[in-house]
Amino acid sequence: MAPPRASPGSPGRAPPRARSGHPLRRGRDAARFLPGCPKAGPAPRQTRKIGRIVCDEPSAQPRPAAGAMAPAVPQPRAATMFAPGAGPQPDPAGDRHQRRIRSFQPRRSRVTQAQRQALERLWPRWGIEIDGLSRLDLRALFSGRPVVLEVGFGMGEATAEMAAADPDTGILAADVHTPGQGNLLRLAEERGLDNVRVANGDAVLLLREMLAPGPALAGVRVFFPDPWPKSRHHKRRIIQPEFVELAASRMAPGALLHCATDWEPYAERMLEVLTASPSLRNAVPGGGFAAARAAGRPATRFERQGLAKGHVVHDLLFRRLP
Ligand SMILES: C[S@@+](CC[C@H](N)C(=O)[O-])C[C@H]1O[C@@H](n2cnc3c(N)ncnc32)[C@H](O)[C@@H]1O
Repeated sequence: MAPPRASPGSPGRAPPRARSGHPLRRGRDAARFLPGCPKAGPAPRQTRKIGRIVCDEPSAQPRPAAGAMAPAVPQPRAATMFAPGAGPQPDPAGDRHQRRIRSFQPRRSRVTQAQRQALERLWPRWGIEIDGLSRLDLRALFSGRPVVLEVGFGMGEATAEMAAADPDTGILAADVHTPGQGNLLRLAEERGLDNVRVANGDAVLLLREMLAPGPALAGVRVFFPDPWPKSRHHKRRIIQPEFVELAASRMAPGALLHCATDWEPYAERMLEVLTASPSLRNAVPGGGFAAARAAGRPATRFERQGLAKGHVVHDLLFRRLP
């Protein structure tokens, strides 16, 4: 995983995202393609879509004519669309348009042929677009199994390992990283896993808009989130009081929030934030950090990179209070 770099532009001024196409490519420019948008200007250099995979090369395709339908995005199975006019309800965690600081940085990453093929073949079956518009029916998606949300699975090797080790638990794995999504789909198929679903987009949006407040999740995992080491980027760190309360509001009583990091100052801050949460209790007897690689967590790719640099890993285990 590339280390975080300075954020491009001002995140505070970004307009709400358009809701079609791949999130890595549907930012500022996408709004100008919306039919009837008064700000529609000359067509910028476009990326080319092959299925849901986006290539970096420029395209000669004209922008869609007014009224033209956007290319169909595979809809998640078992997602319920809201009735017209209903839409996502206000949430104590805030409206999606208020949340402009993101914990990830969109990257142009190379998708290998194997990842591309896995995406083309398996996305319609196991992929979920985080569009913020549909509610997920986790019971239907995971055949009634308890479901754990993994936020930021990277290349997905550890996710596949955890899914294989615990077939009775469903893993809803969210990330914005296209190559990782392809890789996890490929691993799931190779290992015959039917308890993994891959969600494309911001896990915060998924939690806030696509899961109703209530005991939906049996756990939330945040393994080696981007550390955003510079103080001016700390606001981008995902473990913040607001995120923790949002996650807790979708967790069943007793569900585990499991975080891990190899970045010492972030570990200290995580412990502070999680300990201060009125919804959680430290599951480690006596408080503090858990033994590294707690609760059967396999080593992750990012963890291995940190260990090679001599970093110390901290796991944090907090349970949802009743
Ligand atoms: C440092 S990597 C760690 C990946 C993996 N957990 C590991 O340990 O190897 C962090 C990952 O979190 C993803 N990420 C960050 N914020 C996210 C968010 N709000 N929703 C979904 N994924 C996110 C990034 O795209 C990246 O793949």
